[in-house]
Amino acid sequence: MEKPATTDHPVLDSIERRWSPYVFADRPVESEKLLSLLEAARWSASAFNEQPWRFILATKDQPEAYAKALGCLVEANQGWARQAPVLILTVTRTTFVRNDKPNRVHQHDLGLAVQNLVVQATSMDLFAHQMAGVDLDKVRREYNLPDGFEPQTAIAIGYGVDPADLPDEVREKEQAPRSRNALSEFVFGDEFGKASTLV
Ligand SMILES: Cc1cc2nc3c(=O)[nH]c(=O)nc-3n(C[C@H](O)[C@H](O)[C@H](O)COP(=O)(O)O)c2cc1C
Repeated sequence: MEKPATTDHPVLDSIERRWSPYVFADRPVESEKLLSLLEAARWSASAFNEQPWRFILATKDQPEAYAKALGCLVEANQGWARQAPVLILTVTRTTFVRNDKPNRVHQHDLGLAVQNLVVQATSMDLFAHQMAGVDLDKVRREYNLPDGFEPQTAIAIGYGVDPADLPDEVREKEQAPRSRNALSEFVFGDEFGKASTLV
């Protein structure tokens, strides 16, 4: 299902077409496509090239591993995410390998890697829905995260559905309009909070 952004200025096709569905098709994601998504994340920029992101990958063709990952989402997210053929739990290393000092931008760099993955997914007609609703303690426990690693988010990935195949109430939710702040609300000039003259 398409739900393009109503942009005020032109953007890349895969930025315009990306959105976060709650419904996924009952269809696996091909391994080579999944590898391309991960490769896109791999080539993200990061501070000192630290690459602090770690991904715990679970696919439905490995039911036990999939159930373990799904069980780490909060219940509200489990409800819809269980349809997605692929789940990723994200983790970051919070210190630099080179000197063990805190990496102030580990979450920033995870976000860059995830956005690379999501934009790549959109370009391949896949959809990704990111989640903060994760039971962090459960991830720590279930996967025995070593010291210095923090669980962060999750991502559900899969193919989309034809809205005509959805029950009315689900279709309504999926078709709800998307909105964004205007550029003038977050692009400032010489005073914080005052819109840049460009926008
Ligand atoms: C870091 C992050 C955490 C999110 N957490 C959740 C979540 O726990 N559950 C959920 O249903 N959606 C979650 N979302 C999806 C957002 O609600 C969604 O991206 C936002 O409403 C904008 O919609 P769009 O992605 O379709 O443009 C999250 C998105 C991001 C980027």
